[in-house]
Amino acid sequence: HRGSLWGGRFASGPSPELQALSRSTHFDWQLTPYDLAGSRAHANALHRAGLLTDADHTELLRGLRVLGERYAAGDLHPDPSDEDVHGALERLLLEEVGPEVGGRLRAGRSRNDQVATLFRAYLRDHARTISGLVLDLVDVLAGQAGDHLETGHESVMPGRTHLQHAQPVLLAHQLLAHAWPLLRDVERLRDWDARVAGDSPYGSGALAGQTLGLDPEAVAAELGFTGSSANSIDGTSARDFAAEFAFVTAQVGVDLSRLAEEVILWTTREFAFATLHDSWSTGSSIMPQKKNPDIAELARGKAGRLVGNLTGLMATLKGLPLAYNRDLQEDKEPVFDSVTTLEVLLPAVTGMVATLTFHADRMAELAPQGFSLATDVAEWLVREGVPFRDAHEIAGACVRRCEELGCDLPDLDDDQLASISTSLTPEVRTALTVEGSVASRSGRGGTAPARVREQLDAVRAGTAAH
Ligand code: ARG
Repeated sequence: HRGSLWGGRFASGPSPELQALSRSTHFDWQLTPYDLAGSRAHANALHRAGLLTDADHTELLRGLRVLGERYAAGDLHPDPSDEDVHGALERLLLEEVGPEVGGRLRAGRSRNDQVATLFRAYLRDHARTISGLVLDLVDVLAGQAGDHLETGHESVMPGRTHLQHAQPVLLAHQLLAHAWPLLRDVERLRDWDARVAGDSPYGSGALAGQTLGLDPEAVAAELGFTGSSANSIDGTSARDFAAEFAFVTAQVGVDLSRLAEEVILWTTREFAFATLHDSWSTGSSIMPQKKNPDIAELARGKAGRLVGNLTGLMATLKGLPLAYNRDLQEDKEPVFDSVTTLEVLLPAVTGMVATLTFHADRMAELAPQGFSLATDVAEWLVREGVPFRDAHEIAGACVRRCEELGCDLPDLDDDQLASISTSLTPEVRTALTVEGSVASRSGRGGTAPARVREQLDAVRAGTAAH
């Protein structure tokens, strides 16, 4: 234990049981590049403060560079006796540059301000990666929307509420309804990053700050932050940045899951709105005919896991006294898992959506069914001067009559219409086409083709802006 970070006051080494419990290298080892960058910036700060000679400074930077190269080559590994990534890298640095020079680096910092900084730096990098992957999916949704928005051949489908036929909508409108939440997730990641960027905890020490005259702002700038923590206790103990990140990743999961559920429904024999590409679907080990939407189901399932990571982390943080407590070591695994989960899931969902074939004829056939044009009858009556309350009743009576007759709204003849209400002149039939229904919803945000084309441009501008 003399070789460990805290052996001095202990007469005996840690028990194997404690070591097994305490060890975090199996998950925090991936912070190595960030730890080395932090150490570089810290060595520079010590040097500027006159606490490292030029020769020692140069030697430390060389040692850190060698460790970085070995890590990149897959040739740097923690030892079972190492407690965490910070201790392991100090041991390896001492091996590289000797204890005399290597032992100088730890001055003026603590693993508490180190890990709080590195975790932020790691998440900032992955926020950018995840944003890019989300934008790839938005691009693919926009591409599918564009493909089904050709003038004169705009694909329609049944729009649903309560999963029941409600009103016809354009397929492009429905697809873009999945693009907007994803664009908001990207915005959330950007907002999050701007907040985290100003709060580099290096310089907070264990909790109370450091005495050596080091410049935390310079360290922050070197690590790509815009500022350092205003309060050293807050800097080392707050993890709201991790919880917020876990929320955004959980929200991405929920948004993917909502899209996935539609793909699952659309590719059933009953819906038959879409077919999955062979390379993006799976078979059954016993039923030769099966083609399963596993990617969509995994998206739905992993959303639960992402939500679990968020709630698990928040349960850990609740009620912790200031400042650092070892409980905080539990902050990393759930958030690392959320990162890995999304970085694997997003490309799969994007490929599945990109290669989905839609069956426009089938969707068009079903679009007017289930009396989805009843609202159009009521709104036509309103334009004829009938109060909506009465119009709603009259359109409802038309649906009841159709159900009695076993027909659809456009099948009612002039006499049948007139017998329901004298306001129902034959002109009402102009309101009874899917194309007319869709085109009439022409207010901002509506499903009219002209509006959806504007929307598609806005989505494309939104992805280009990031
Ligand atoms: N490995 C710890 C963590 O991830 C950092 C070390 C702080 N440990 C300590 N005993 N102060 O939170």
